[in-house]
Amino acid sequence: MFNKLTLLKKSLFLSAASALTCSATVAAASTTPDKVIKQPSKQAILLVAFGTSQPGAKKAFENIEKVVSKRFSETTLRWAYTSAFIRKKLKKQGTVTYSVTEALEQLRQSGVTKVAVQSLHISLGAEFLEIITAVERFRCRPDTFEKITIGMPLLNSQTDIDKFYQALTKVIPAERKSTAGVVLLGHGNGHSGIGDMTYIATDYKLKQKDKNIYVGTVEGKPNFEDVKQRLIANKIKTIYMLPLMVVAGDHANNDMAGPEADSWKSLLTKQGIKCYPILKGLGENDAIAEIFADHLQAALTALNETKH
Ligand code: CO
Repeated sequence: MFNKLTLLKKSLFLSAASALTCSATVAAASTTPDKVIKQPSKQAILLVAFGTSQPGAKKAFENIEKVVSKRFSETTLRWAYTSAFIRKKLKKQGTVTYSVTEALEQLRQSGVTKVAVQSLHISLGAEFLEIITAVERFRCRPDTFEKITIGMPLLNSQTDIDKFYQALTKVIPAERKSTAGVVLLGHGNGHSGIGDMTYIATDYKLKQKDKNIYVGTVEGKPNFEDVKQRLIANKIKTIYMLPLMVVAGDHANNDMAGPEADSWKSLLTKQGIKCYPILKGLGENDAIAEIFADHLQAALTALNETKH
């Protein structure tokens, strides 16, 4: 964990796109300068999501791919999933997917020299740290790429939250009255809590635009109790519930809107609150996909800067 925290701290200094440099890489490159100059650079984009095993949820990824390939049509596009659990589950179903390390290795072997790795995660949480760790390991190999940059997750700045709010207004039903709540359910991370800072900040900033937006998380903070208490305190009788997740997968369908007695919908209905779940992953929203594409743009720009 110390290592991950150190890496996160390092990445935070690099704003929209990080470009950490491994000393081993620099040394290797400087011994063969002619080779580096003569080879034309071949670039690729690696989109990295948590993953999903639900076929219906995949349309969020397909939409992001559509938006990204439209904006960066010249660049090779590949995918990786950070969740080993999902990759294993998909493999059993006959679908082969790759980890960040595996996907980078394939790109390297295919002659790619520069890669922009774009996170499709929501916060600077544990899954995003997995990307940094994998990329950093790769950077320190003697046979690494000329350059690898990382595009930041969805909610990485105040501007991102502003853009996110704009995107949200497109999916909140027009008939919603301002007295009705909008509950956004993120994943959260109860262990390290780093990613939860994003949800807390997003909740704060969104409330300045619309006081009845409530951010909650399945596994971190703010949690169910926090949201419930605030809904009750503000006498909210109707809510629209949306996943604050790229895909509407297991958590959205079960934890948020499922028929089980312990789903958010069931528990809030018991409090006398009318719940309207909107089972759409954020990735299905073009305006959200564009935020990821903006971050990718920054990572691609950093990829082609001559200075480190
Ligand atoms: Co989960």
